[in-house]
Amino acid sequence: MGGKTIGKVGIGVIGCGNISMTYLHNAKLFDGMELVACADISTDAAVVRAREYGIRALSVDALLSDPAVDLVLNLTIPAVHFDVTMSALSAGKHVFTEKPLATSAAEGRRLLREAGQRGLLLGSAPDTFLGAAGRRARRLMDEGAIGRAVTGTAFMMSRGMEHWHPNPQFYYQPGGGPVFDMGPYYLTMLVNLLGPVKRVAAMATTGQGERLITAEGPFRNATFAVGTPTSVLSLLEFHCGAIVNFGASWDVFRHSNHPIELHGTEGSLRLPDPDTFGGTVSLSERGGEWRDFCSEGELYGALNWPFNAPDRANYRMLGVADLVRSLAEGRTPRASGELAVHVLEIMEAILEAGQSQSAIDIPGTIVQPPLLSEDEARSFVTRGGI
Ligand SMILES: NC(=O)c1ccc[n+]([C@@H]2O[C@H](COP(=O)([O-])OP(=O)(O)OC[C@H]3O[C@@H](n4cnc5c(N)ncnc54)[C@H](O)[C@@H]3O)[C@@H](O)[C@H]2O)c1
Repeated sequence: MGGKTIGKVGIGVIGCGNISMTYLHNAKLFDGMELVACADISTDAAVVRAREYGIRALSVDALLSDPAVDLVLNLTIPAVHFDVTMSALSAGKHVFTEKPLATSAAEGRRLLREAGQRGLLLGSAPDTFLGAAGRRARRLMDEGAIGRAVTGTAFMMSRGMEHWHPNPQFYYQPGGGPVFDMGPYYLTMLVNLLGPVKRVAAMATTGQGERLITAEGPFRNATFAVGTPTSVLSLLEFHCGAIVNFGASWDVFRHSNHPIELHGTEGSLRLPDPDTFGGTVSLSERGGEWRDFCSEGELYGALNWPFNAPDRANYRMLGVADLVRSLAEGRTPRASGELAVHVLEIMEAILEAGQSQSAIDIPGTIVQPPLLSEDEARSFVTRGGI
């Protein structure tokens, strides 16, 4: 009890809530890693997950000092991402964290510095851009299928959370809102396709100052005050010269906008929801009919989730597999801390520009993560894995 297979990267999960099931379930698909333990401030939550996946339930401190844990997978809530990641780095562990990396870019930069000084790797969700649709779109962009990207749109719009989530108040306070909660998926995908963002302008508004909880639960029929904008329209200028309109709103009942469209000098590219690994990518060359590229037959594109009745592709853990490989190869992981800090900087700038009504420069720049080739993507799969 307590060891791990020699040569494998031992993974310790901190945070055994909702999303932990996805990671723990998917871990067996990937080579080079082994689940060894899990922890949560709720001992019961850790014990349940440990039983389900045949690993050890430990206290957070015990997990951090366990020599079999090489990498901590931080699946806690956003408010404690910084503290848990900092503790793990201080204990000498590599870290991959759920999004957002931290609740401010300044904290994100501190984590990056800490990891760098200790020679540890830091990675962050989302890793959806490494899925079948993200890879297809990236290959088409790199091949010049739409020529030079000129403009585009990205829309994350819904009616919000209070009709299904029993305790939705936290989503509507600073650090939450549609930009911080969902922006990482859209912005990470855009940076993957277009490279880093240079400047941001935005306008923001709040559809309702108070919201009524209609979901079943203890707060049904209670109202709460909204503390952060719920509709934000932003303009992103990329270093490559492209300009993209990104709308994020929880004030929309129904709409017909595609999640992401990019338009270039030779054509247009349409992407599915960047919160999934699959879906259909469509290309129109110089105004021709859309040509569809379905993901279902592609690696990390087949429907697999929820596992009892799959209706989508969910391969969360793929970014961890890439990070594990990057350890052996001495390179930066694709879903890197640097990328996550850049996305945090963009999100902060969007909210700040919404308040100040003036354009904001993004302070740093990053290198666009390299394309994940099909051969490399396949090499992550464990024998008999998918
Ligand atoms: N649920 C989803 O569908 C989903 C999807 C994508 C991303 N995420 C992200 O995953 C993260 C977790 O979301 P979730 O839905 O699993 O939340 P959750 O509330 O279901 O689970 C979080 C767990 O973390 C534990 N925790 C909180 N503080 C802790 C601490 N200091 N130390 C140890 N454990 C602690 C909680 O007890 C809880 O069990 C969030 O960042 C969220 O944005 C969730």
